[in-house]
Amino acid sequence: MKRSGMFRECIDRIPPYVPGKPIEEVERELGLNGVIKMASNENPLGPSQEVRQAVIYALDRVAQYPDANNFYLRDALVAELKVDPGQLLIGNGLDDVNRILAEALFNPDDEVIIPQPTFSQYEIVTRLMGAKPVFVKGDGYRHDLDAMLAAITDRTKMIFICNPNNPTGTIITETELVRFLRRVPASVLVVVDEAYAEFADDPALPNGIRLLQEGFANLVVYHTFSKIHGMAGLRLGYAVAAPELIRETLRIKDPFNVNLIAQAAGVAALNSKIHMKLSKELVQSGKRQFYEELDRLGIGYLPTQANFILIDCGQDSRAIYDFLLHNGIIVRATHSFGLPHCIRVTFGTAEQNDRFFRAFREGMKRLEITA
Ligand SMILES: Cc1ncc(COP(=O)(O)O)c(C=O)c1O
Repeated sequence: MKRSGMFRECIDRIPPYVPGKPIEEVERELGLNGVIKMASNENPLGPSQEVRQAVIYALDRVAQYPDANNFYLRDALVAELKVDPGQLLIGNGLDDVNRILAEALFNPDDEVIIPQPTFSQYEIVTRLMGAKPVFVKGDGYRHDLDAMLAAITDRTKMIFICNPNNPTGTIITETELVRFLRRVPASVLVVVDEAYAEFADDPALPNGIRLLQEGFANLVVYHTFSKIHGMAGLRLGYAVAAPELIRETLRIKDPFNVNLIAQAAGVAALNSKIHMKLSKELVQSGKRQFYEELDRLGIGYLPTQANFILIDCGQDSRAIYDFLLHNGIIVRATHSFGLPHCIRVTFGTAEQNDRFFRAFREGMKRLEITA
């Protein structure tokens, strides 16, 4: 098949998304059992009991199409977030939300400011639409907001801020964000992706939805059910933004983009406050465990506000990644983020964290990784 001319030109420029390896694939390929995944920032507790029940009840109705307007889920989100129903764009995961917005908004000449390092989907949807990603290198590992402001031109359509940031776990504080927003022209949209916000313990983390309601009308705030709610496999996420923006964007949404089970599960998840609390506590204790162990080993890491940690292996991380994989522990090598010396590890249960450190210590010895 002749390839040239077949695909849109932008397709060639889209870097492949690098997902964490699935457990089944690693078990099959390496002949292992009991593999654990600490690679994709999932919740090791899984979903709440309420969500499990809702999923089972919803099964009775899967012969029907889901509600295109997400009525009950929208209602539950409105009550939870104190926003107008017209401010919500609900999708098949945040990835879907992100793509719908890009499809609705990005023209080929538009510029989209993307900090580095960060979540790769921002670049992927930008390139998909033939818009131009404008990368702004971080200040150390944090977003460099001043450099991002300096990168704004009259072609800038959108700016992405990931808060807490994937893969660094760093945050932009409320003071920093407000100062930034005051300087961004009102015509430029600012996405604040709060996929990991529920795990943060730093009170300086801003609440994007509050800032939107207080008058920063160019904000678009992302949330997902994949992380604290333990529903990554069900696919559910949403954006909150100005009603005019959502109204126009909804015109191109696939009518049934959110499946019936995910809608029912989402309502139950919003009512699962105890599960959310336990999930956050598990992350906090995992974080303490990692800080203590890494300090004892003298290994560098970034203090984190998310449910994962970026560890600096001090040498190319491929070898330690492979060593961990062969010991049944999937982590994320961060080469695709431009951090070839790091791994990103999702906090697991205490036992999983112990297992990680047993393998990690052994790997350090074998690979002569020194602090
Ligand atoms: C920062 C960030 N945003 C969005 C997503 C995608 O979330 P979802 O599972 O809702 O598509 C992820 C997933 O890892 C993420 O890290």
